[in-house]
Amino acid sequence: MENNRIFWTKDLSISFGGLVAVDHVNIDIARGEVLGLIGPNGSGKTTIFNIITGIYTPTDGDFFFEGESLLGKPPYEIARKGIARTFQISRLCLDLSVLDNVFIGMHYRQKHWLIDAVFRRDLLAREVSEARDRAFSLLSVFNKELVGLAGVPVGALPQIDRRRVEICRAMAMEPRLLLLDEPSAGMTLEEMTELMEDIRKVQEESKEISIIIVEHDMTVIRSISDRVVALNYGRKIAEGTCEEVSHNTEVREAYLGKRGIKI
Ligand SMILES: Nc1ncnc2c1ncn2[C@@H]1O[C@H](COP(=O)(O)OP(=O)(O)OP(=O)(O)O)[C@@H](O)[C@H]1O
Ligand SMILES: [Mg+2]
Repeated sequence: MENNRIFWTKDLSISFGGLVAVDHVNIDIARGEVLGLIGPNGSGKTTIFNIITGIYTPTDGDFFFEGESLLGKPPYEIARKGIARTFQISRLCLDLSVLDNVFIGMHYRQKHWLIDAVFRRDLLAREVSEARDRAFSLLSVFNKELVGLAGVPVGALPQIDRRRVEICRAMAMEPRLLLLDEPSAGMTLEEMTELMEDIRKVQEESKEISIIIVEHDMTVIRSISDRVVALNYGRKIAEGTCEEVSHNTEVREAYLGKRGIKI
């Protein structure tokens, strides 16, 4: 793992006033690995994503991507370096079409700017047409049905398709690390399974991508993760295979009487 790891944190910590939301957390992920991140409500999962994507600056510790510290870097720079995410609460533009939402993700990769729109229209036209092809191929790798819905406003789609579009938008940034924050929230077990199959497919098509996935459902975690890390009150309390973590006493106690995972 040591040589193959693409991302790692070192004693990552953040406090909000007196509350220690993330407490000296060390996690790492190898290239092509899917890491499940679990923990009861308020255990610090989303906060870790917010730190990794530059929304919050940690109070202590550091985090590294492809050998380089990203501490203090702004979100757009972190995104350009190859880390993309989805949000627990959807951030899609509901009035825009499926295709346009995916285009928004691509804008991070675009090479040509306003000046080209005026002086080099040919370059811009080529880039737009390539982006369009890429968006369609992304939609079809993810789920073929989405191609037929490319012109439909996202607001008219069911929850599961919105989640798919959101993941496609993140994928459009061509990330090497993808952070998924409860992608299956609000779905039926059947829908969750379908979404996980799609994510697996995307992951298998581009073995290079590493994924950290936050999920509350252990069936989902089991179906997709190579390894699992469990948090409680901002601390890492267990790490290992799905079986090891789900049998861990501290993990079982953390979930006792709390809304969340069925272990
Ligand atoms: N900006 C903030 N200001 C103050 N407290 C915050 C802030 N962001 C997060 N917290 C607190 O940090 C703790 C961890 O929150 P976080 O959202 O990371 O939990 P989570 O594990 O994602 O929970 P859930 O499963 O409910 O999504 C919580 O107590 C939360 O209230
Ligand atoms: Mg959360």
